[in-house]
Amino acid sequence: MDKKCYKILTASHKGGVGKTMVSINVAAALKSAGYDVLLIDTDTANPSIGPLLGLPDSGPGYAEIIDGKNKIDETLVVVEPYGFYIIPAGGNGDALATTTEQTNKFFEKLSKLNFDFIIIDTPPGTATDGALKNYDEALIVTTPEETAVLGAKKLSQKFINNHLQHKLIINRMKKDKYELDEEKIEKMYGDVAYSIIPEDEIIEESEAKHTPAYMINRKSAFSVAVDDLIRSYALRAGEPGQGEKPKKGGFGGVKRFFGGGQ
Ligand SMILES: Nc1ncnc2c1ncn2[C@@H]1O[C@H](COP(=O)(O)OP(=O)(O)OP(=O)(O)O)[C@@H](O)[C@H]1O
Ligand SMILES: [Mg+2]
Repeated sequence: MDKKCYKILTASHKGGVGKTMVSINVAAALKSAGYDVLLIDTDTANPSIGPLLGLPDSGPGYAEIIDGKNKIDETLVVVEPYGFYIIPAGGNGDALATTTEQTNKFFEKLSKLNFDFIIIDTPPGTATDGALKNYDEALIVTTPEETAVLGAKKLSQKFINNHLQHKLIINRMKKDKYELDEEKIEKMYGDVAYSIIPEDEIIEESEAKHTPAYMINRKSAFSVAVDDLIRSYALRAGEPGQGEKPKKGGFGGVKRFFGGGQ
């Protein structure tokens, strides 16, 4: 029986604001809550999900699926011991210019998999109009800086025009003297739903250990914010563990690797 899969796009206009960090930890948190989760790296020019998780050699991935060279199940990797799946970026290090048709085809293939959540991490500024109907929701990530918030606003307008529901994530909030506070951000961006993720030292530890911050310490300020963020999704997907699990062997000898590898 088919179950509804909720597809979340992680996007930003400005680079380096924390999209990938948010994507990885949302994936880890949803998996910990009992859901079947797939995380996809579409940043073929700067793949970072594999490296951040310590994946030794990413092999074929998103780029090869788009090019029709590999099937999805040849690219899937399950990240142990956490149990969420990834599709690494793959490719040869070049940015990938993907047509709407290719993206639609990719999502058609994804719809045949049996995940509760699919999180799609993107390079900065790349969400193209035609492809947006493939997502159920977008997370627009920003930092509390003027240029990042103005970029987030641009993206938000694009999503409004394309009827894609979205939420603002204000990441790396330090609450220091010179950063934009919530009121200023709301004034700049408009009155919308937003979540705050604080600046947290655990991210440094997470990068050094190639382990999602959420799996290092669920009580860290960062992890607590991620838990707050996924709460609304949990309500959407119903009770964890109620969905049909991926069939045993259904992904044909899927690759496994243990996160935290050097
Ligand atoms: N909440 C946080 N606390 C502390 N550091 C953070 C936090 N979020 C992100 N960082 C830092 O910011 C860096 C950039 O994060 P990340 O790679 O997730 O951004 P990105 O938006 O995916 O970048 P790109 O646009 O290149 O894809 C990380 O390497 C990490 O050091
Ligand atoms: Mg990234």
